[in-house]
Amino acid sequence: EAEHPDWVTPDSPTQRAGAKAADRFDKIRHPAPILSLANAFGADDARAWLERIAKIDDRVEKAKFVVEPKIDGLSVVLHYRDGVFVQGATRGDGEVGEDITSNLRTIRSIPLRIPVNSDQSSVIRVPKYLVVRGEAYLPIKEFDELNRKLEEAGEKTYLNPRNTAAGSLRQLDPVLTASRPLTILVYQIIYSDGGKIPTSQWEILEYLKALGFPITDVAKRFNKLEDAIAYTETWNEGRDKLPYEADGMVIKIDDLNLAAELGFVGKDPRGAIAFKFPAREVTTTLNDIGVAIGRTGVLTPYAMLEPVEIGGVVVERATLHNF
Ligand code: IVH
Repeated sequence: EAEHPDWVTPDSPTQRAGAKAADRFDKIRHPAPILSLANAFGADDARAWLERIAKIDDRVEKAKFVVEPKIDGLSVVLHYRDGVFVQGATRGDGEVGEDITSNLRTIRSIPLRIPVNSDQSSVIRVPKYLVVRGEAYLPIKEFDELNRKLEEAGEKTYLNPRNTAAGSLRQLDPVLTASRPLTILVYQIIYSDGGKIPTSQWEILEYLKALGFPITDVAKRFNKLEDAIAYTETWNEGRDKLPYEADGMVIKIDDLNLAAELGFVGKDPRGAIAFKFPAREVTTTLNDIGVAIGRTGVLTPYAMLEPVEIGGVVVERATLHNF
């Protein structure tokens, strides 16, 4: 490539790093809105969700459901032209995101070229233009390792994997992003042109996998909401077995045409719901109460606790200025 610069293709391995630092991020308009999710806090909320949407469309009564982990990372949008990764963006406000293509290229699990191509006589054909959405994240193990190294070097450590991932992807210098072991799981097709894509969420996951994208290995499909809820609830205890931070599970109507027809409320599609894990709780001893004095003289009481571990962090202080 050094001798033949015109031979450099966007999917060349050298393009994973190599991009120069930018002085700002360009804006990218998403081809379709990047939606959010309404929350359910427990089984009754989920049942109420089903009742609500069954009133809108009675096909809901026979619907299947896909349950996936709700990864606490950063939503990203990946564009492929003729199977080649050409652009990647943050979610932004759901309509317009930031162009973080150079940073996303450094994530090894993002295919720079979809191995199956439209001109091959393969069973799977890649649409001419394909836009997928996934969650970029820093695995918990890698996060701990990074903090351990920073601590050893006497540097400031990070608060949690999500902030670290977000900070790493919003670096103007891709060399910095490349040094962070970020990874991704994809779960949605935002847009496709020139090719057929599946019409159920379950098949979308299988299809994305066949195209070479990393997908979750804990997704399951159910014929009844009650079974989906039961599976979801097994993860209340099991969340620590996941290699990434998850703040819940997502229950999705499998039939994507039905889901789309149900529409949305604000930015939340009616066809899916985030089933949140209960907040982590531990018990410890209140050793003392301190008072912090702000620059303006405001007094803020805080608790000095017997150090206790919760969700991978040790807590020894807690603010007390609100309930
Ligand atoms: S589906 C219409 N699936 O959770 C599709 N979202 O609180 C809407 N998230 O902004 C999103 N894992 O960034 C979906 N398996 C998953 C997810 C997931 C994480 C994030 C996503 C979204 C947020 C909503």
